[in-house]
Amino acid sequence: MEKIKTLFDQYYDDWLPLCPSAGQIITKLEADGETIKNDHIALRTLQSKEFGVEAIAQPFLDLGYVFKGDYIFKEKKLRARHLEHPSDAPRVFISELEFGKLGKETQSVCQNILNNLKKNQKHSCDLGLSGRSWPFSKAVYDALYRESEYAAWFYAFGLRANHFTISFNHLNGFSSITDLNIWIKKAGFSLNDSGGEIKGNPECFLMQSSTMSDDVPIVDDKCGQIFKIPGCYLEFAQRLPDASGQFYGGFVANSADKIFESTSRSSLDQQPNRLKY
Ligand code: NI
Repeated sequence: MEKIKTLFDQYYDDWLPLCPSAGQIITKLEADGETIKNDHIALRTLQSKEFGVEAIAQPFLDLGYVFKGDYIFKEKKLRARHLEHPSDAPRVFISELEFGKLGKETQSVCQNILNNLKKNQKHSCDLGLSGRSWPFSKAVYDALYRESEYAAWFYAFGLRANHFTISFNHLNGFSSITDLNIWIKKAGFSLNDSGGEIKGNPECFLMQSSTMSDDVPIVDDKCGQIFKIPGCYLEFAQRLPDASGQFYGGFVANSADKIFESTSRSSLDQQPNRLKY
């Protein structure tokens, strides 16, 4: 268990600077006497033998995790699997972009990323924490974003946790996830409302909400200019017992599909005439 904790601590320390509002939310909840339990982390990668879902999962498999669920996001061209541990350690949700189904330009950027990762490959136990080892260009990011927000995010941030998730079931001060959402907004943070603030319902035994990603500074390695783009976010998940009385342990594809959009730019920024190229 100690090894699992150390691995999650590494992911957390790497993720938090890209989601500073999560630190503020967690501090506020703890000040109110809450105990924070992580339901799951989500990792993003590119489809490939060396760096695909199964490769990123290996360090977790080595620690006793097992694959539990498979998911397809047809429109976003994503495939995902989730892992669970026999203990109550957090779940791990890993998705990969089937970039071969995207346009030639995007394919070429993704292939270059994979070549770069191969060149700079770290020890397999640190693979999911490799971050970005290739130069960043805002123009390339914008071009990717137009076709796949997921590809753009991965190009900007590389291999690392995309979000951590506060387990609603372990909070005491909220009567419902709606109640928690109101508290989050009152505290000054914005929620992802794609598909509604709450994804899922009691019938699918999983209800989720999430903050919108914090905008974080990133340096364009070509021109040296600093831009702000969506980094990482914090999710909240409430699990409900199914007919057998067991708390549902999986994920719901329709909900996850909308949660992915937490790393989208704000709707204002998405208007083409407002983009600053
Ligand atoms: Ni999630």
